[in-house]
Amino acid sequence: MKRVVISLGGSIISMEKLNLEFMEEFSRMLGNIKGYDGFGIVVGGGKLARTYISDLRKYNVNDNILDEIGINATRINALAMTTFLDDVNSKIPTTVNDAAEMMHDYRYVVMGGTEPGHTTDTVAMLFAERINADVMINGTSVDGVYTEDPRKNRNAKKIDRMNYDDAIKLSIDSSIGAGSNVFMDITSLSIAKRSGIKIFVINGLKIDEYINILYNGTCNGTIIE
Ligand code: UTP
Repeated sequence: MKRVVISLGGSIISMEKLNLEFMEEFSRMLGNIKGYDGFGIVVGGGKLARTYISDLRKYNVNDNILDEIGINATRINALAMTTFLDDVNSKIPTTVNDAAEMMHDYRYVVMGGTEPGHTTDTVAMLFAERINADVMINGTSVDGVYTEDPRKNRNAKKIDRMNYDDAIKLSIDSSIGAGSNVFMDITSLSIAKRSGIKIFVINGLKIDEYINILYNGTCNGTIIE
């Protein structure tokens, strides 16, 4: 069974508007890919989640409820994504367990978040671990992992390849400080490490990147292994 999990960062799906062009192109690309038995696709919350969360935070709504709001946003985006794919679930699973079951019935299983306290990075990694996927593709709004946040520091350098321990250290270091922007959360990296799941962090908007990874195991982003 050759399966892959793709985490589609919310920021590439839900921008000012829904990125329908990308969703269409991404679905067409996956439809043409040969040699795989199934794809798990985990969709983030993006602008939809951020708008609700930041507005409600001003009214002291607690973080658990804000996470629930975020989860619902990811599920709306996930449902929107399903409308572009054939042979896909029509109900969004609320647990990785249910999503794994659905892999028996569909070529694509699309989901969003599961429970408060983590992000869809962790959901994607748990999903990958559960269905024995060797590879997790993390499509983000940046073209790989950098030594520092490239939007804040022009001297930040892209890292082509790194091991799990260095990725975990970088994730911890970059999560310190307000307004931090972490490339992947520590939990998801720890899960990848324990199960040896190879991670490709790429600019999720570049369709060629998915094709290169799926056929050649290479990318212009960052490989964590
Ligand atoms: P995302 O996974 O999209 O968060 O979930 P993110 O990484 O902050 O944002 P982008 O999309 O990569 O820019 C959106 C929000 O939903 C909640 C969290 O509050 C998260 O910030 N969430 C999501 C959960 O609480 N649990 C989940 O399993 C998923």
